Amino acid sequence: MRRKLIAGNWKMNTDRAAAIKLARGVVGRAGMHSAVDWLVCPPFVNLFPVSEIVKGTPVALGAQNMYHEANGAFTGEMSAAMLLDAGCKYVILGHSERRHILGESDAAVNKKTLAALAAGLIPIVCVGELLDERESGQTAVVIRRQFDGSLANVPAERIEKVVIAYEPVWAIGTGKVATPEQAEEVHAELRGLLKQRYNEKSANNVRILYGGSVKPSNARDLLSQPNIDGALVGGASLNPDDFLGIAAGASN
Ligand code: 13P
Repeated sequence: MRRKLIAGNWKMNTDRAAAIKLARGVVGRAGMHSAVDWLVCPPFVNLFPVSEIVKGTPVALGAQNMYHEANGAFTGEMSAAMLLDAGCKYVILGHSERRHILGESDAAVNKKTLAALAAGLIPIVCVGELLDERESGQTAVVIRRQFDGSLANVPAERIEKVVIAYEPVWAIGTGKVATPEQAEEVHAELRGLLKQRYNEKSANNVRILYGGSVKPSNARDLLSQPNIDGALVGGASLNPDDFLGIAAGASN
């Protein structure tokens, strides 16, 4: 049985005071929803203060990106070891905003994924099609290309540590949520790709999250789909009531 994971991606929001307040708001009530796993991913500069707040609680800490090298002359980058030192358990990789605004390729995401796994961080590897790709019937092709490219060379003994997030780009921050059927179709395809490359048991143990305008009002229908194992939440994760409200949908 896959435990659901509710992950908040705060993106480039929250100064230190706001991050502390938000983390306290989540930690204060997350324990009431013990049937799900919780994760918050603040901006890099707020990892340390948030880490102090979530330590010893059911809420895990994650970062929104990392670089694949261990250290050295890579101005502006963060290594897996630095994230672990800051208290992170997870790292989001290949988010569509990094792919489409900052030009991150599948090859770059792949290097990061392998480095995260080698260091002991759990990568949340994001995939998702653009609106014109969906409208031209390319969704399955795009998802397969991103799956193959971003998860190349992940060994069988490590694949169960990976979390995949399906985030259709047209549903991110737009209020346009994928229907539960649209999301489930892609999640089932991803599970099928895992089965083909690995085996049934591993494929069944990998968590596949949905992201894109998830809110308390649509969470229940999405999270009740057989292959949707949690949510990667942007906007609604900035409000503790909304974020915690998503779990109410997950626990049923
Ligand atoms: P929204 O929930 O704001 O659509 O963002 C989704 C997302 O990109 C999470 O990583």
